[in-house]
Amino acid sequence: MKVHSVELLISAVHPKQYPSGGRPEIALAGRSNVGKSSLINKILNRKSIARISQKPGKTQTLNFYKVNDSFIFVDVPGYGYAKVSKKQKETWGPMIETYMTKRPYLKAVILIVDARRPPTNDDQMMYDWLKHFGIPVIVAATKADKIKKSQYSKALQAVKTTLDMEESDRLILFSAQSGTGKDDLWKAILSYV
Ligand code: GTP
Ligand code: MG
Repeated sequence: MKVHSVELLISAVHPKQYPSGGRPEIALAGRSNVGKSSLINKILNRKSIARISQKPGKTQTLNFYKVNDSFIFVDVPGYGYAKVSKKQKETWGPMIETYMTKRPYLKAVILIVDARRPPTNDDQMMYDWLKHFGIPVIVAATKADKIKKSQYSKALQAVKTTLDMEESDRLILFSAQSGTGKDDLWKAILSYV
């Protein structure tokens, strides 16, 4: 996939701020610090369009990135990190829920989990929640560069089993560092936009 333009349209908190234009949207979801913003940067070939941090809780708004004037990536705050303040959690939960349940242009969510360990309870809840609302899910198991190639299939199986994934849902091993899985992820994304 050739990315010739990326533009941050808006960092939104309220539905009123969501961009108009009717382009299809693909949103990210995942535990805080799992690598959502890094995944966006990697697949867009941009070093730091989405801001990343070693500290969880970096992304605090819904960030809409227009790609090639054809579709939009939505970076979101992460869940499940104890040190994020209670107030932040109370704001982010409804913000993400409103976006994901009410946005007609949302075509699919990339649920990002850590390839190094089985998905957490929060990851399972998120997967079930997306399923409940009938939102198509692509699961990306990231940080693959941190595990040995010989562990790949075991890691993928652990994700599948723990999330109790439906057969038809795509599962892609990914690394924002090495680029593993980038082409496969693009294929999955392009089937929805
Ligand atoms: P929040 O916005 O806080 O929810 O975090 P996030 O999910 O957007 O994570 P972010 O992309 O900011 O990355 C968190 C940390 O993980 C950073 O230190 C990244 O460099 C690192 N990281 C992300 N993806 C990878 C990867 O594929 N491999 C390795 N080795 N590190 C990664
Ligand atoms: Mg982020």
